[in-house]
Order: sequence, then structure tokens, then C-alpha cells
Amino acid sequence: MQKVRKAIIPAAGLGTRFLPATKAMAKEMLPIVDKPTIQFIVEEARAAGIEDILIVTGKAKRPIEDHFDSNLELEMNLKEKGKTDLLQLVTETTGLNLHFIRQSHPLGLGHAVLQAKSFVGNEPFVVMLGDDLMEDKVPLTRQLMDNYESTHASTIAVMDVPQEDVSKYGIINPGQEVEKNLFNVINFVEKPAVEDAPSNMAIIGRYLLTPEIFNILENQHPGAGNEIQLTDAIDTLNKTQRVFAHKFTGTRYDVGDKFGFMKTSIEYGLKHPQIKDDLKQLILDLSDDLRKDEKKKKEKE
Ligand code: UTP
Repeated sequence: MQKVRKAIIPAAGLGTRFLPATKAMAKEMLPIVDKPTIQFIVEEARAAGIEDILIVTGKAKRPIEDHFDSNLELEMNLKEKGKTDLLQLVTETTGLNLHFIRQSHPLGLGHAVLQAKSFVGNEPFVVMLGDDLMEDKVPLTRQLMDNYESTHASTIAVMDVPQEDVSKYGIINPGQEVEKNLFNVINFVEKPAVEDAPSNMAIIGRYLLTPEIFNILENQHPGAGNEIQLTDAIDTLNKTQRVFAHKFTGTRYDVGDKFGFMKTSIEYGLKHPQIKDDLKQLILDLSDDLRKDEKKKKEKE
């Protein structure tokens, strides 16, 4: 059996939900408190035992590349000033096996993954999206890799989402639960209408795929949103080889839209040693003010 060694991180989308911040910067560089979301993803890959990472970038390639490169001037400066904790922070992301490739036009997630064809070769690999930050005792990517060791099959991470949100996601039509939290899949549908969704089990940004997906992607026509959808290609793959869905039971932070991003920033801020006390006090004060405002509003009605 081939070992899973490689990860693809697509980061070439337009990030329209964060405009104007993403006009000249990849949304994956937006920080949760002080760390770009893409760094959380790279750290998950490293913790899972991934050896090589390919980041698919678009126009805003430089800041991502620079972020994971050394910055000698900054490092010297911090060293001279004895700021060893900051030095540790800026150097912990260097020295990884990171590679970059450009997706010249953002034609969709499936098209972004296709750019990795020659990097991946004939091996199983994982795709990790920066829209979702995952927390669990065992990294979700490692959970998918562990499944692969026994099934030798593609496995997609899923989670229940509220019914009214299904049209934002790729949704699975689950078949039999073959073991705890591992499902056969009847079919996959990208962004179904609420009334057409076969379930509320949504694809959540971690995929373990066999390399046969590339031949499918090469012939994949645009689907929802007129984009080349990875979900559609996975649905085709599932017709020739088994694709499982692994239900994630840890905590998922959705940072792909403004509200999810704010919520995650607050939750991470409340755990951040430097700001947690001040942030907590701010939230308590704001809550008091908001409650008073609400009370006044109700009294007027
Ligand atoms: P999203 O749909 O969440 O990203 O794609 P987006 O298109 O950048 O965001 P909005 O909807 O306009 O706000 C999921 C992931 O796939 C990447 C994105 O960078 C994101 O990480 N992606 C998407 C690509 O790399 N290329 C594409 O053509 C599309």
C-alpha cells in the first residue's frame, strides 16, 4: 500500500466574501488573532505526518510564499533585541517542504486541484481547504489517513450542518454506515437547493483522494456556479471505486465568511494568552451595553 505523503492546499480563489480585504491579498492570509489561516492548515498537515505540501496560488502568490520563507532581516533584528519568543514565532514555519504552483484562472476548486497532477503523480493525497479550521485530539487529516490504511479508498470528511445551510456546501447522500462514523456514499451533490438536498451531511474541507481523480478532473465540465467542481469529480470517482465519508466529531471553525471569521477570531482570542483577559472584559462590557439597549428598545415598543 502506498503511504499518503502529499497535501494540496488550494488558495487561488477570489475570496469575494471578504472584499475589499482580498482585492490584493489571498483570503488564506487573513489572520485569526495573529496567525494566517493558511498557517493553521500547514500545521495540521505537519501534525498529521504529511511530508510535502503544494499550495495552489493565484495572483496573490508572493505574501503566502514569503510567509513560509525566512525573513533574515527580521530574524536578525529580533535576535539583537533578545526577542526570542517572537523569533521562535517567525521561524517555526520555515524549513517545511512547501511547493507552489499557480492557477492562472480561478475556474473552480476542481481546476485548482488539477494543477497538482504532476506534483502528486500516482499516489493517494489529501486536499485541505483554508475555509475550515479543525480541532480534535487526532488531526482530522490524520484520521483520514488512518482510514486509508485500512480501506485503501478515497475518504471525504463530512459533518452535519443546519438544514437551511445545505446550499452552501457539497452534500452527500449517505449509504450504509460501515463502521462507526464511516459511511458508504450513494452520491455527492454540490450546493443543492434546500428542498433537493439528500441529507444535511456536508463536505468540510478535508479530502483524501486516490490519483484517479485527475483523469476525471481533466474532463470535468463546469457545474454549480459555472465552476469546475471537485464534488462533481468525486461523484464520478465514486461510480468506479468506493469513496467513503468520514463523519468528523471534533470542532470545526468555519472561517470562509465574515461572520464565521469573526466568531472564530473571538473564540481563539478568548484562548490567546496575551489578550484573553482584556477580550473577555470587553465582551462582558459590550454584553451589558447591548442588553441595556435591547431593554430600552422593548420598553419603547
Ligand atoms: P471558496 O469558494 O470558499 O473560495 O473555495 P473563494 O472562491 O475564494 O471564496 P468566495 O466564495 O469568492 O468568497 C474553497 C477553496 O478553494 C480555493 C479557494 O482559495 C478556497 O481555499 N479555490 C477556489 C481555488 O484555489 N481556485 C478556485 O478556482 C476556486
